Amino acid sequence: MNFTNKQPTIAIIGLGYVGLPLAVAFGKYYKVVGFDTNVKRVSSLQEGQDDTLQCKEEEIKLATQLQFSSDLNSIAHAQVYIVTVPTPVDENKNPDLQSLLAASKMIGAILKKGDIVVYESTVYPGCTEEDCVPVLAKESGLAFNIDFFVGYSPERINPGDTKNTLTKIIKLTAGSTPDAANYIDALYARIIEVGTFKVSSIKVAEAAKAIENAQRDINISFVNELALIFDKMNIDTHEVLAAAATKWNFLSFKPGLVGGHCIGVDPYYLAHKATQLGHTPQVILSGRKVNDAMSSFITDKLIRLLAKNNQDINGAKVLILGVTFKENCPDIRNSKVFDIYHQLKEKGAMVEAFDPFADAHEVLQKQGITLSTDLKIYDAILITVAHSFFVSLNYEQLKTSEATVIFDTKAILDKKIVTARL
Ligand SMILES: NC(=O)c1ccc[n+]([C@@H]2O[C@H](COP(=O)([O-])OP(=O)(O)OC[C@H]3O[C@@H](n4cnc5c(N)ncnc54)[C@H](O)[C@@H]3O)[C@@H](O)[C@H]2O)c1
Repeated sequence: MNFTNKQPTIAIIGLGYVGLPLAVAFGKYYKVVGFDTNVKRVSSLQEGQDDTLQCKEEEIKLATQLQFSSDLNSIAHAQVYIVTVPTPVDENKNPDLQSLLAASKMIGAILKKGDIVVYESTVYPGCTEEDCVPVLAKESGLAFNIDFFVGYSPERINPGDTKNTLTKIIKLTAGSTPDAANYIDALYARIIEVGTFKVSSIKVAEAAKAIENAQRDINISFVNELALIFDKMNIDTHEVLAAAATKWNFLSFKPGLVGGHCIGVDPYYLAHKATQLGHTPQVILSGRKVNDAMSSFITDKLIRLLAKNNQDINGAKVLILGVTFKENCPDIRNSKVFDIYHQLKEKGAMVEAFDPFADAHEVLQKQGITLSTDLKIYDAILITVAHSFFVSLNYEQLKTSEATVIFDTKAILDKKIVTARL
């Protein structure tokens, strides 16, 4: 690599929740080609339309040096490749590296002497150098750390969060050699307003990202466990948490469903690596278990709340408010709300789901559920996602009777108007 090239052409591989904001940020300062194998996604972006709601059309336009393409030739001349493809788990909760390795193979085929490949996808410590580098080297026929270099810079954005956006979150950077690390760090330093944090190795950067999400998962699992205990004691968990949070060192987390592409997935990456090395993680996996069981708990509690009104779940009209995995975001990946929907259906409830953020076509295609567009009246209303829109709904108009159950799992409504919270 010509580590003095201050104006490289950057190719961003994968234009999803992570790749697009990154391409837009870099596209203000560098020549960037945003590449995605999803032709439909690329043509929407070429028209300034982002279905993930991460970037507005005006923001995309501000990235004057950014182009979008699904043609491999368009990225063959780049000097820096940044990989932002999905890293999900398979049905056995093991890392599914298919996209990551396919992207590495594709880059390997066009890799040139002096190029740098930076991975941003969330992985386990060791993955970049042990799994991706051999693919790059084999496909390109080039020598690692002589002909080409790699780096790792985990993404820490929180889709739907308009405050902590890409350029306002400190970016960890790492490289396969000290020179590569310095070069990558300077590249990012140009776009990250709050600065970068260069670490000593790729493994440290990979591990830091993995533990950020594992820690969050474990902390949420603790308050979820409290919600299970306090439910048995008729104590409002949210009140307890608010009271405890008055102590300076109490950490504030809220109980709820844990879905999506990160918090509910990344701990399995760390657990996989630990298990491979002969250590079975206790805390990480039990946190996962508690969080995964929350959908069944919510279903059971809703059934109990209806029973208190002498109403059987079979035939009850139930409205689920929110199907995405998090608030004010259209992402439905691994949303645990669908478990609740299907569990209630199995019990004979007449379930409707309403979500102003989710893509109705995607929900139908992936879950076989037709989202409601007009709200009626219901025996039970279950708030599962804290979309701001749900705060201002007129709940009185949605009730079949005064007894209608309002189960606000996210504690977004005035406690006086709800039947129960988590
Ligand atoms: N979504 C988040 O909040 C978030 C936050 C931090 C880190 N991450 C991590 O970032 C990575 C990407 O996540 P995301 O949410 O942006 O995923 P995403 O599914 O929104 O986007 C990935 C994009 O990559 C494309 N793609 C898949 N394989 C490809 C290939 N071989 N070549 C080119 N394009 C390809 C897909 O078409 C898709 O548009 C994951 O590792 C994730 O864990 C995500």
